[in-house]
Amino acid sequence: MAAIQYTDRGTAVRVTPAGRALTQAVLAALGAPSILNTQPWHWRIDGDTAQLRADRGRQLATIDPDGRLLTLSCGAALHHARVALAADGVAAEVAYLPDDDDPDLLATVRHAGPAARAGTTVTAEPQRLRRAMGIRRTDRRPFADLDVPEAALDRLRAAATAAGADLHVVRPQDLVDVAVAAGHAADVERADPAYRAELAAWVRAGAEDGVPPGTAAAPGPRPVPIRDFTGTAADQVSVYAGGEVADRHARYAVLVTRGDLPRDWIAAGEALSAVLLTAVGDGLAASPMSDVVEVPAARAMLRRMLGDVGHPAMAVRIGVLAKLDAPPVTPRRRSVSTVEVVAEPSPDR
Ligand SMILES: Cc1cc2nc3c(=O)[nH]c(=O)nc-3n(C[C@H](O)[C@H](O)[C@H](O)COP(=O)(O)O)c2cc1C
Repeated sequence: MAAIQYTDRGTAVRVTPAGRALTQAVLAALGAPSILNTQPWHWRIDGDTAQLRADRGRQLATIDPDGRLLTLSCGAALHHARVALAADGVAAEVAYLPDDDDPDLLATVRHAGPAARAGTTVTAEPQRLRRAMGIRRTDRRPFADLDVPEAALDRLRAAATAAGADLHVVRPQDLVDVAVAAGHAADVERADPAYRAELAAWVRAGAEDGVPPGTAAAPGPRPVPIRDFTGTAADQVSVYAGGEVADRHARYAVLVTRGDLPRDWIAAGEALSAVLLTAVGDGLAASPMSDVVEVPAARAMLRRMLGDVGHPAMAVRIGVLAKLDAPPVTPRRRSVSTVEVVAEPSPDR
């Protein structure tokens, strides 16, 4: 197992069965997606509770001045941990933002015993999502020229709703609105030296965080431009300028929350994780897209497209895999810097 930081409260180290189950779940949750792979979370396991804390030192000052995407990333990690616990047959009780004086404490997850005993029905779904956690990756490559089955989109909507946010699948006739919003966001961000500097600082190979340049998609015309990590794809928007257009069968969906406060952002993150894992469980591929919500005017365009109801928190691109080979892996920070386990004093010392 990866190294974990143990905080020894007594003279010897002992971790309870609940602590061990929470540790396993939290380690699995380190694979959650995050904005620019900043992995802005810290977990502390103490007795039968795991605390999820936002790591503000990893907030992106230009891309994410309010910490919305940081909180959303932590919400995705929270959902991953819940899935891992459920797949292990453990019931979990989650308290959101439990301390008004400590807003960076986003959630506590309490191990509430075996799910069956706690009255929760154990289904095969958590196992399916847990398997998806192991293979999910952000896939920015063009998808196959095959339609995403409507039944799969229905399952994604249901997964998002169950996790606390609405998923609006963009109708083909509204795709141009998403394309305009994404193109506008790309133009605004690329013109901002602070954005370019922040992106340059986080796109790097060989580190344990950030986005490796090898995971970026090749530039080229697409119906909806996606984030350009390479700095060379300034003409991605030129879909109507001719040439071979890739990714024509990708579907786009927008996660929407009722409010626009930290509690809503956590829900959006949980829903993003639920959507991505459900898609992968169904053999589909997906890539999150936040540039369209980072630029206020682009976010407002999405909101108008959705009838001015709710707050767009995130967009997702979904499609059928064009190739069976997996996209490249993005690394993770070592658990010694992200997970702390408070060990109980051993009774036999
Ligand atoms: C809140 C959030 C925003 C993201 N925004 C984008 C984006 O705009 N474009 C993109 O290509 N990937 C985006 N991603 C995907 C991350 O870059 C990706 O999760 C991270 O690099 C780790 O890689 P993995 O998902 O393959 O594990 C986002 C992920 C999250 C959670």
